[in-house]
Amino acid sequence: MSQYYFAPSILSADFNRLGEQIAQTKEGGAQYVHIDVMDGVFVPNLTFGMPVIKSIRSETDLVFDVHLMVQTPRKLIERIALAGADIITFHIEATDDPGACIAAIHEQGKKVGLALKPSTPIEAAVPYLQRIDMLLVMTVEPGYGGQKYIDASTQRIRQARRIVDESGLDVDIEVDGGITRDTIDIVTDAGANVIVAGSAVYRGDACENTRWFAEHLGILPEEG
Ligand code: DX5
Ligand code: ZN
Repeated sequence: MSQYYFAPSILSADFNRLGEQIAQTKEGGAQYVHIDVMDGVFVPNLTFGMPVIKSIRSETDLVFDVHLMVQTPRKLIERIALAGADIITFHIEATDDPGACIAAIHEQGKKVGLALKPSTPIEAAVPYLQRIDMLLVMTVEPGYGGQKYIDASTQRIRQARRIVDESGLDVDIEVDGGITRDTIDIVTDAGANVIVAGSAVYRGDACENTRWFAEHLGILPEEG
């Protein structure tokens, strides 16, 4: 079984004190910062882009897991990489050339994530599996934080895990949307190993909430 990674999504953070909030999740044991870039086209919502990523990059050494919810992601890849991304995930539905996006991310020396909306068959990712590091199985409709986990996702995560394991490839399976203290066991049992949570971390004490998830996943670093 692959290692677990916990990725608090700053979409639900208090942007007035973003650096501080990210530091709290690090203290709580998170390894990643999940950064949701939305363009108001691929999804109705609009969030942040390169300047914000650059600004928080200077504040933390956590892994930047950038989730692009933008149409034609190819155009943004170089700039997102330069801003400080470590993993760049784009949606298969947002481009007519996923292969070119993968190549562009590799060219920047970054890890590749491929995201699927809840309605996109898992099989759509199969042709790209050998060239990606992570498959993001969306567990809500992308666009907003605080939504309810879509139950039909469980079967999809299981299918993704089975395909990855049967292929013998080392591809992480990330889940994003509606992950809480109540749903985490469902997604890990199904085979997810990169866990995103926004509102379940940032509603309340971000450090304490992160620590709960980190302990639950068994990734809490030893004291000392
Ligand atoms: C939704 C974003 C998520 C969002 C998850 O489109 O991709 O990363 O922050 O939020 P929660 O964990 O509150 O569902
Ligand atoms: Zn996301």
